[in-house]
Amino acid sequence: SADVGDELTKVLYTPDQLASRLKELAGEIDTEYEGKDLLLVGVLSGAVMVMADLSRALSIHCDMDWMAISSYGSGTQSSGVVRILKDLNTNISGRHVLVVEDIIDTGLTLSYLISNLRSRDPASLDIMTMFRKPEAAKSGVDVRWIGFDIPNEFVVGYGLDYDGRYRNLTSVGTLSPHVYS
Ligand code: PRP
Ligand code: MN
Ligand code: MG
Repeated sequence: SADVGDELTKVLYTPDQLASRLKELAGEIDTEYEGKDLLLVGVLSGAVMVMADLSRALSIHCDMDWMAISSYGSGTQSSGVVRILKDLNTNISGRHVLVVEDIIDTGLTLSYLISNLRSRDPASLDIMTMFRKPEAAKSGVDVRWIGFDIPNEFVVGYGLDYDGRYRNLTSVGTLSPHVYS
């Protein structure tokens, strides 16, 4: 697997730290959805690692579906433009839906996504994210499960990319400014 190179200035979370926090959240999610018909909705592409690891950390059964929406383009700043690139395959009416994200930054992606999904009449609709940045905490997006609140630095790894790269780093760290400046 990919390892941390000189393009990361520092490691914020090791694979062990990520796995152990996910295990804690999975326990809470198991309890919340026990006896319910849970559908995990992963937001491509960033959420693939969280989705793969969270779903396997759960003891309960779950279905999985995916949406692809994009707000970033190729920079490090959110553009505010949200596009659906791929919609769900599943009708979520009456389903218990848990949206799974890698990171919430401005909250623009999820505000759009949540209002879109809400209109499809799910039985319940909640959000789990591995990381949340300070601006998102103020954005009014109500996040039920958060792995870690992190500082406002550009981070990569564990699904998080810079211009499509670094998603397969097993650790999460800050990208050296020389890479993108
Ligand atoms: C990233 C991240 C979230 C979103 C968060 O996705 O995976 O989905 O941005 O940013 P926001 O809270 O400011 O909207 P991105 O649009 O980069 O697509 P990707 O998942 O394919 O990398
Ligand atoms: Mn994303
Ligand atoms: Mg991205």
